[in-house]
Amino acid sequence: MAQIFHHSANTLARTSILVGVLGVASVLGVMVMFFNSAAATGVGEIREQPVPFSHAHHVGGEGIDCRYCHVSVDKEASAGMPSTKTCMTCHSQIWKDSPLLEPVRASLKSDQSLQWIRVHDLSDFAYFNHAIHVNKGVGCSTCHGRLDQMQLVQDAVICPMVHQLPQESREGPAAARQGL
Ligand code: HEC
Ligand code: HEC
Ligand code: HEC
Repeated sequence: MAQIFHHSANTLARTSILVGVLGVASVLGVMVMFFNSAAATGVGEIREQPVPFSHAHHVGGEGIDCRYCHVSVDKEASAGMPSTKTCMTCHSQIWKDSPLLEPVRASLKSDQSLQWIRVHDLSDFAYFNHAIHVNKGVGCSTCHGRLDQMQLVQDAVICPMVHQLPQESREGPAAARQGL
């Protein structure tokens, strides 16, 4: 019987299936890599803020407690952001002519709150509650890193790790309980 396909067609068919499968796999691989990459998740990124506020100066240098500015962190789901008045309790007296603080003065005058750009933003379907974690003794630095040493906040929230930590470090060192 005459062969309709040359017998090498079999090999060809197999090869092209293999190439196809590999192709799809590598496209998927690249996609997974991209979506996990820093570029896509924003990890390590620094956002430009209306005022270049430094946690290192205020927390590390001046020793201001996190809760002074993020007042609802141990009461509500959201940590809260400081109002212009909170900044002005100090900056109506110190560094009151600093050009860097001009947006703060303008905000007070116009009664328009400063628009801090969100650094961390979980997707809407993920719900995070600060009060629950903070009241269990999980220190801010467990998830946010050493903000007392950061000039500008980087997106470095490391929440998935918290539930894998041993009990001892989950409770955090004494410094963590004080809010660092
Ligand atoms: C409890 C007092 C206090 C509060 C509240 C406070 N600051 Fe400060 N801030 C300081 C001190 C003290 C310095 C000087 C720190 C240094 O240079 O080490 C400073 C420095 C600064 C500077 C640098 C000014 C310059 O010209 O170098 C900026 C900007 C600033 N603060 C913004 C803010 C903002 C925005 C808020 C509110 C979210 C705020 N601060 C709240 C005490 C405070
Ligand atoms: C004097 C006020 C002040 C104090 C004290 C302070 N913060 Fe902040 N924090 C701010 C301001 C203003 C911003 C918004 C600008 C920015 O992101 O840098 C901010 C932003 C943040 C963010 C990023 C929020 C986002 O957009 O996702 C985190 C996390 C944070 N603070 C944690 C802390 C922790 C932890 C402490 C204590 C170690 C602390 N803060 C102490 C004023 C303060
Ligand atoms: C168990 C991990 C964890 C701990 C502990 C934690 N945070 Fe957060 N924090 C997060 C996550 C996750 C987000 C992002 C939430 C979102 O996007 O909805 C966040 C966001 C923030 C923000 C941005 C505003 C907001 O509420 O979304 C601030 C400010 C903040 N944290 C401050 C603090 C301070 C201050 C402490 C300690 C008193 C603290 N956090 C402890 C995980 C944590």
